Amino acid sequence: MKATCWYGKHDVRVERVPDPRLINEGDAIVRVTATAICGSDLHLYDGFVPAMMKGDILGHEFMGEVVEVGPAVRKLKVGDRVVVPFPIACGVCFFCEKQLYSLCENSNPNAWMAEKMWGHSPCGIYGYSHLLGGFAGGQAEYVRVPFADVGPLRIPENGLSDEQVLFLSDIFPTGYMAAEQCDIEPGDTVAVWGCGPVGQFAIASAFLLGAERVIAIDRFPERLRLAASHSGAETLNYEETEVYEALMALTGGLGPDRCIDAVGLEAHAHDGLHAYDRVKQAMMMMENDRPIVLREAIMACRKGGTVSVPGVYGGFVDKLPMGALVNKALTIKTGQTHVHRYMQPLLEHIRNGEIDPGFIVTHRMALDEAPEAYRLFRDKREECIKVVLRP
Ligand SMILES: NC(=O)c1ccc[n+]([C@@H]2O[C@H](COP(=O)([O-])OP(=O)(O)OC[C@H]3O[C@@H](n4cnc5c(N)ncnc54)[C@H](O)[C@@H]3O)[C@@H](O)[C@H]2O)c1
Ligand SMILES: [Zn+2]
Ligand SMILES: [Zn+2]
Repeated sequence: MKATCWYGKHDVRVERVPDPRLINEGDAIVRVTATAICGSDLHLYDGFVPAMMKGDILGHEFMGEVVEVGPAVRKLKVGDRVVVPFPIACGVCFFCEKQLYSLCENSNPNAWMAEKMWGHSPCGIYGYSHLLGGFAGGQAEYVRVPFADVGPLRIPENGLSDEQVLFLSDIFPTGYMAAEQCDIEPGDTVAVWGCGPVGQFAIASAFLLGAERVIAIDRFPERLRLAASHSGAETLNYEETEVYEALMALTGGLGPDRCIDAVGLEAHAHDGLHAYDRVKQAMMMMENDRPIVLREAIMACRKGGTVSVPGVYGGFVDKLPMGALVNKALTIKTGQTHVHRYMQPLLEHIRNGEIDPGFIVTHRMALDEAPEAYRLFRDKREECIKVVLRP
């Protein structure tokens, strides 16, 4: 089959590789009909995630048709149309029972590596390095899906297109969980840094969950425009205005009640600590991640408010304003998304017509064009916001 393979920083290639096969009794094989590139894939593409190996198959946002099931699979049948959540979860461990699926104890065969870095291991993730299991990803024609009775969500109706349901695999639940963890109260103002796909879904979800105002922050005009036109956010271009000052002015000096960092470790720097972070990050291990947005969110958040961090961080950060967190009594919430928990309820929102997740798609390309698609999405050229690849 054909698959998108990682070969190093800014080097992905579509190659012929062996077809996946069932390994465990509970596995299924899915023929991929649509797959997408995520902001998280850019961290691999830009070389920020260790434990990648040449030839690794990328991709954790995908859907398709079940073409084979193992003997222990009960719920899925050959021919089912499914969306597959990016975290791989067993469904029965301590964490899965608490619906903390991205913390599953049983799905990362390389847990020891993650334990060295983080103390404990999260779940395995498709196409996301050997640190998270070394699973082949879904930017391919076929993919092996472990725990097939636990993760995949069946989409029986033909009335919903792939683009309407594909993002249940990751970014819609991710934006939703980011907003949900804010515990939004009536009248709240929510500030969202980053108007990429995750930011767009966080903005839409904040309104679904009752926010009165959302202030969206980015520097790309087309992304800010989409936040305003699709969801009704107010917008700030951080290259044209000083973010802290602007947020204070917009909130009567209080600061936004809830702040969402939908940017993560590759934040584009524009403040005084910019050079500091660049140098330390370049020297790797001194500081892996650039917490520019995290700092800004903590400083701007109103006293007693919540900072929610869907943006991915992998290692260590410097100059985290711990004093502000403590003295302003802030709550900070984070995590890889517990996607399984949100798929069915969010599908209902789609069915009810409350949201059509396809609004973020700007580019549709063939799987063969994945190298160009990565370049476009990375550099935000051609007003690219989200690419869907068709194998
Ligand atoms: N927690 C999870 O489970 C989960 C799931 C999916 C994605 N993510 C993470 O969410 C983040 C966003 O993903 P995406 O797909 O939207 O990526 P993206 O690259 O399309 O979007 C990031 C946006 O942040 C903006 N940005 C950069 N620096 C900024 C700054 N200083 N201030 C304000 N905005 C800034 C960029 O201009 C861009 O529009 C990534 O870190 C990704 O890894 C996490
Ligand atoms: Zn993702
Ligand atoms: Zn589990």
